[in-house]
Amino acid sequence: MRKTQNKLFDRLAGIYDEKTASGLNKKLARDDNIFLNHSGIVLSPRDISRVKGGGLGEDGELDLIHKLEKNLVSFGMKYLGSSSSKKRVLDAGSGAGGSAILINRKLGYRIDGYTISKKQVLFANHAAKEYGVSDEVKFHCGNILDLAHVRNNIFDTIWACESTEHIPAMDLGPMFSEFSRVTKPSARMVVIAWTSRSGLHKDGERIKYAIDKHYITDIHSKNDYTRAAMTAGWQLKRAIDLTKKSLPYWEFRHKSRNATSSEKYFIKGYKNNSLSYTLFVFDKIPAEH
Ligand SMILES: C[S@@+](CC[C@H](N)C(=O)[O-])C[C@H]1O[C@@H](n2cnc3c(N)ncnc32)[C@H](O)[C@@H]1O
Repeated sequence: MRKTQNKLFDRLAGIYDEKTASGLNKKLARDDNIFLNHSGIVLSPRDISRVKGGGLGEDGELDLIHKLEKNLVSFGMKYLGSSSSKKRVLDAGSGAGGSAILINRKLGYRIDGYTISKKQVLFANHAAKEYGVSDEVKFHCGNILDLAHVRNNIFDTIWACESTEHIPAMDLGPMFSEFSRVTKPSARMVVIAWTSRSGLHKDGERIKYAIDKHYITDIHSKNDYTRAAMTAGWQLKRAIDLTKKSLPYWEFRHKSRNATSSEKYFIKGYKNNSLSYTLFVFDKIPAEH
């Protein structure tokens, strides 16, 4: 691995170690230990009216933010396929484990999560134990660009939620190739990501730069994803635009007592169309015989 990449990963791991130990994410997981490191979406008229209505105390605000973040997992998991205790899923960039636990509880999948943060792994394995699912959901410290210890063709599905933004553009192709190697021939892959419209919008570069700096990301465009995945043997089935569903989440968080300062970039970018939020569904292209 390149030296600069090692340094980048150390910095990234540090951020997530910190986030797991304290901060907004921890507050949100205070009641159920479902620790999520991603944004949220509104799914129902009730969500919208709760977001628009005021008068919530701090606990009420936190509960609503948490609910909207869980919504993202409920929505995304519909694209993973039917429930089965035999399916094996790789959660690529698994954070502190909340998504994998929710997916396991709903769909029964066996899940292996990988994150570069040691604290996240500890927290996530502890939460899986608390939920009584530690035989089925396991978290490991590892780099999704280099899963050398993982055997070929073992996973049915890849789930990557707000993690691929951290992968530098030049490594997007190698990452999808690695996902190809560890998955079965009929595998499915669901990727949820902030997607840049720089090049298409005059403000795109500025918004991308601000968020990249804040979160140590390299936000990619929809085309970057589609092209890199295709080259690595994945065919795009759907690209669902979640921008409108996610904007109210950021607006609500911005006004809440627990705003973190990154909200303004998403509000501006989603409103002026210089940034978008996309759920991609890819299927592995069948090998030719
Ligand atoms: C924004 S968080 C998302 C976490 C989780 N997927 C969720 O939805 O809550 C990004 C995650 O990607 C992980 N990550 C970033 N780059 C990674 C890499 N190269 N290998 C493994 N994990 C990585 C971080 O450690 C962090 O857990």
